Parts: sequence; structure tokens; C-alpha cells
Amino acid sequence: MPVVAAIGAQWGDEGKGKIVDMLAEKARYVVRFSGGDNAGHTVVNPHGEFKLRLTPSGIFNKNTTSIIGNGVVVNPAVLNAEIDELNSRGIDTSKLLISYRAHLIMPYHIAIEGLEEDSLGSKAIGTTRKGIGPAFADKVARSGIRAGDLLDKTVLRDRLTTVLEGKNRLLTRVYGAKALSFDEIYSQYCQYADRWAPRICDTSAVLAAAIARNEPILLEGAQGFLLDPEYGTYPFCTSSSPTSANACLGSGIPPNKITHILGVFKAFQTRVGAGPMPTELNDATCDIIRERGHEYGTVSGRPRRCGWFDAVAARLSVRINGFNSIAITRLDILDVLPKLKICTAYKIDGETIDNFPWSIALLEKCEPVYEELDGWEKPTSDARKFKDLPQNAQRYVKRLEELTGCPASLISVGKHREQTIVRKAIF
Ligand code: IMP
Repeated sequence: MPVVAAIGAQWGDEGKGKIVDMLAEKARYVVRFSGGDNAGHTVVNPHGEFKLRLTPSGIFNKNTTSIIGNGVVVNPAVLNAEIDELNSRGIDTSKLLISYRAHLIMPYHIAIEGLEEDSLGSKAIGTTRKGIGPAFADKVARSGIRAGDLLDKTVLRDRLTTVLEGKNRLLTRVYGAKALSFDEIYSQYCQYADRWAPRICDTSAVLAAAIARNEPILLEGAQGFLLDPEYGTYPFCTSSSPTSANACLGSGIPPNKITHILGVFKAFQTRVGAGPMPTELNDATCDIIRERGHEYGTVSGRPRRCGWFDAVAARLSVRINGFNSIAITRLDILDVLPKLKICTAYKIDGETIDNFPWSIALLEKCEPVYEELDGWEKPTSDARKFKDLPQNAQRYVKRLEELTGCPASLISVGKHREQTIVRKAIF
């Protein structure tokens, strides 16, 4: 039975929400394995339009168990608000589970991140300011507090006492900010504990049992490969790995159980936050793409930087993630453009390279080498088969397949589930 990992293949916001929502219909388990509420997965389905930040997209299917895996950092306040909203809109959230091992975002993570970003001034990373980076830093520094710690209030009290002392020293002595109150945080997290206790469990054991029963599982990526701390545009990146490798570690499923790795690419390129983006446009075409695609951050509302498809970056994404096939999303956004460009190589100090450079200093020097294709200038949103697409749109998709070396199993031409060309079923 399939275990499918759907991975954001660019800088996030590839339209994973829609693809994952479609695939989630067939899955019995849907698992978030990385990131936190920095993600914003927009889903439009028969229940309405939703922006999910922490809840896996399987939540709309009452037979599906939704899992927040060990690789996620959880802000309990955000999760509660999300669950309340889903419930108020008639969605049953009783099958949502949280890993014992998932780390919690604490109020000091958010406070410290704000102060750090402010102190960096023009060098700021432009994070979502949700405390994601400080929470993952604490995980590695061994000062994190995990969902399982909520189940024993003595453990929670001890852990919080030790950790908060250090955080308050940092807040008051380094940043000159106010100390946070132990009592307030402790009583707040005790309330979360009371509400969540039935949901917190060994989710990797739940998944192992599901695999033994041959039940279909979907691993739902967050963010995108180019934000990976190892292979992305470090330090302008996020702090957990959005890769297929981490789909295993962040869910507790071994690599040899994954049956299909789907890379989700937008038909063009976008980025939010700072950091180099070789194919970025700052012209009328950029405005057309941004407005047609409503390219504004789901979480932050920030305008997204828009540009041409970058096949150099895409090749690295394919190489590290090992995609079996790709989904191409938002093809319809390009419907009005008379000419399209694809970046096939970079020029750096007069030399042409086709490998994505390892450092931002090098990447900043790269100039894109483009090939130009004719646009199709016809609507594609009603296409349901590949042959329904205008010839030039077919050519564009085929060129992306050639350049990535991966077949496009899914092509999305609109925000609704049915606005999808399924060339090869994933489940
Ligand atoms: P953080 O993940 O909040 O630490 O932000 C680090 C960088 O990742 C910033 O450039 C963010 O804009 C970017 N980022 C984080 N999450 C997302 C996402 O879901 N989509 C797109 N960019 C993201």
C-alpha cells in the first residue's frame, strides 16, 4: 500500500495545500512532519476555503487520522484556535493525534525571535516571527519542552522552571526586555495539557501499525526545499528540513516504506522573506503574476517575490529529494503572458554553470540564463486532460519535465480540487 510523501520543491507556497487535500481524500493517515505554524496551507474543497497552519489536510475526511508528527513544533494556542474554527465549521477533529515527541513553541520563543529579528535590522531573515527558529534551536540545544511533557505536570513544572530561568536571563540581560512570568506560562500550558491529553501518543507506533495493515499514508510537507537549512539558501532558510529525507525522520516511518515521492513545483517561482532569488522579476510581468495568482503570504500577508521558473534550483531539488514524479501547480496564472522564460543555467563571473551554488554570496552573483517560449494566451482552467491544454501550454509542461527529468503526474489549473489534470494516479 502506498506511503506517499508530498514535498514542496521550491521556496514554499507551491500550492501543496490543494495537492495534499486531493491526495488526502484517498489516504487513511495524513501526517505533518516538519515546520510549525509558519506554514499556511490553503485548501478549497466542498467544505469551503480553509487556511491550515498546523492541522494536517486529512482533517476533512472523517475516516482519516491526522497526525502532527515528532518533526513539527507546535504552538498550542494556534492549534487550539485552528481546532475551534474547524469544529465551528462542522469539521470533525476527533481523529487528530499529536506525537509525544513534538516540541512545543513557548511564549519565550516568540519573544526572543522578535527581538533577534529586530536587532538584525536590514540583515533580518524575514522570518514569520512565530518562534519556529528558537523552538528548533532549543530542540537541538536540549532545552525544549515536548508535547509528552504536558502529560505529567510535575515534569512540566521542573522542565519549565529550569528552561525559563535561562530564557529570562537572556530576555532581561541581553535584550533589556521584561521577564516572562512562570505562573502565567505554567497555568496556560496546564490548560493545554488538560485539553490535549487524549490526543498525545506514540504516533510513529500508530503509523507502523497502519503500514502493517497496508493502509495508505500521506506525508504532508511544509515549506519548500530551497528553505532547507542543509541545502537551501542558508542562512535565509527555515529551521527544519522540508525534504523527503525528513519526511521519514519527522514522522517515524523508515525510508524503505516510502513508495512515492511527489515534488510540488509552481509553474513559476515565488519567495517570501529575504535572501537571493536569481529569477526574481521587478516589472509589469511580476505584477501580473502576483495579482493573478494573489501571491501574498497565507500567514504573514506579505507580497511574495515572483519570477520565472528556475530549473537550476529545480535540479538540485530533484537530486536531493529523489522525486518519482512532480505536480505542476498554478499553470493557469501564466495564461495571459505572450512570452515565458525558464532559467536553464546561471552565469557567474563570465562562466556558465548549471549547478545551484552552495552559498548565498555566490548565488547573489548569479545571473539567470533564460530560454524563451511562446505563451498560450488562452484560459486553461477548464482543462481536465493533458490534450485539453493549448499546444504551447503542453510544450511548457513538457519542457519542465525535460529540465527536471521527472514526469508531471498532476497539473493544477485552478484552486478547486476538480481543476486538476491527473496524468498518473498517485494513490
Ligand atoms: P521561519 O520559518 O518563520 O523561521 O522563516 C524563515 C524563512 O522561511 C523566511 O524567509 C520565511 O518567509 C520562510 N518561510 C517559512 N515558512 C514558509 C512557508 O510556509 N512558505 C514560504 N516561506 C516560508
